[in-house]
Amino acid sequence: MEFSIKSGNPEKQRSDCLVVGVYESRKLSVAAEALDTASNGYLTTVLKRGDLAGKAGSTLMLHSVPGLPAERVLLVSLGKERELDEKHYRQAVRASVKAVNSSGAADAVSFLAEIAVRKHDIGWRVAQLAEVALDAVYKFDQMKGKAAKDKKTDAPKGIRKLVINVASREEIKAAEAGLGHGKAVAAGVSLAKDLGNLPPNVCTPTYLAEQAKALSKAYDMQLQVLDRAELEKLGMGSFLGVSQGSRQPPKLIVLQHKKGKKGQKPVVLVGKGITFDTGGISLKPGAEMDEMKYDMCGAASVLGTFKAIAEMALPINAVGIIPACENMPDGNAIKPGDILTSMSGQTIEVLNTDAEGRLILCDALTYAERFEPAAVVDIATLTGACVIALGHHLSGLFSNHDALARELLAAGESAQDRAWHMPMLEDYQGQLDSNFADMANIGGRAAGSITAACFLSRFADKYDWAHLDIAGTAWKSGKEKGSTGRPVPLLTEFLRQRAAKG
Ligand code: BES
Ligand code: MN
Ligand code: ZN
Repeated sequence: MEFSIKSGNPEKQRSDCLVVGVYESRKLSVAAEALDTASNGYLTTVLKRGDLAGKAGSTLMLHSVPGLPAERVLLVSLGKERELDEKHYRQAVRASVKAVNSSGAADAVSFLAEIAVRKHDIGWRVAQLAEVALDAVYKFDQMKGKAAKDKKTDAPKGIRKLVINVASREEIKAAEAGLGHGKAVAAGVSLAKDLGNLPPNVCTPTYLAEQAKALSKAYDMQLQVLDRAELEKLGMGSFLGVSQGSRQPPKLIVLQHKKGKKGQKPVVLVGKGITFDTGGISLKPGAEMDEMKYDMCGAASVLGTFKAIAEMALPINAVGIIPACENMPDGNAIKPGDILTSMSGQTIEVLNTDAEGRLILCDALTYAERFEPAAVVDIATLTGACVIALGHHLSGLFSNHDALARELLAAGESAQDRAWHMPMLEDYQGQLDSNFADMANIGGRAAGSITAACFLSRFADKYDWAHLDIAGTAWKSGKEKGSTGRPVPLLTEFLRQRAAKG
């Protein structure tokens, strides 16, 4: 989909479709009002018949409205004017794009960015409009067979051009900047979704390394991929332990975006890259196990965020570290009771081979020390317990540094990709005691997402660190099964705010 910004009169637009908002109680937005006047009250007449529900995101397509050069007018409900918040705005945008996309219209002019949404400026409204629009039309069909792809249907081809109209010429510059930002985030989200949705026989650790290579070439970033022999030299016994049951070789991917001041300490992002999690010898039950292809969504979010910040040419130094491997049961796999020695020197008793994410992340966190980071954020589909605690709306946020946690929460709020600050008190650490090693890799059923974070914190004591548990937010199950691309919007906004501070 192509976008452009414009400032024009609604009633004069020649387009396949005009998109205008209507508040509950049939109050017209400014653009809808202009169309209503030009059509001699046609919109008011139609609305009086009651075909448009008041709930934000309801839509009604009108054809050949009298007095207008446009072919169609799509009315979108904004809900109650007093209650118009970020959520309702996004719902209205999503529904309108879906409705236009499934109509015969190939282009459209949307007037929704003119709607006042709390304290948000035009840049934010346009960025969100572009992000939500691209999210709404995303499709993953690269694995469909040739026959399905080539099938000629008479179904609408979908929207190709979307003009975002702003209220005045003075707003065009800020709107253009917002559009650039929104498109960059959407490109990162789309990459993260693709990587997540790819089947695990395609998206292997080697494939992730190749994708990182392609990114580094396309955007002038530095890349290093460490293989098994190099991981052995570094003493990454914990990461190597997880990978030893798999035929796929492990990779440690290290990507660097160096667009900040020379000598500026980098922000390091560490992403869990388990390209398939069977549980290992502590085998998972069969139901929905296919979804464990999404266990590399932390890694995908790091690559997606690097694509977004590269697109934006963000003036910041950032390092992405991705430990990637499979967790498989095998004659050579680690067993419950095995003790691994991590790169930090701390020993770990593996009481459950399904708690493998922390075992690969701990060595990546130790590796991060060499970059003398300003902050380290790891992103991981780490625990089922986090899904029980927070469901699918919020990512779990844990940190050893309150100011860093606040920064991430604010970034999530602004990007509408939210997280919730979870407790990580010292009191929970005792659940990781082991009779035979420095620690166990599990802490029992109680507070499972917290003890997982506590485990990681033992490898992150040399810098400001935060951990995002995205087990509930990285993908959707059921009929809408698919990757969400979260938390690319949160991470990109976090880095953007950091870059703005210099
Ligand atoms: N990748 C899973 C976490 C997961 C499970 C995410 C289900 C989303 C949905 C992780 O490796 C795992 O298996 N964690 C275990 C830890 C337990 C053994 C302490 C879990 O959550 O059950
Ligand atoms: Mn697991
Ligand atoms: Zn896992």
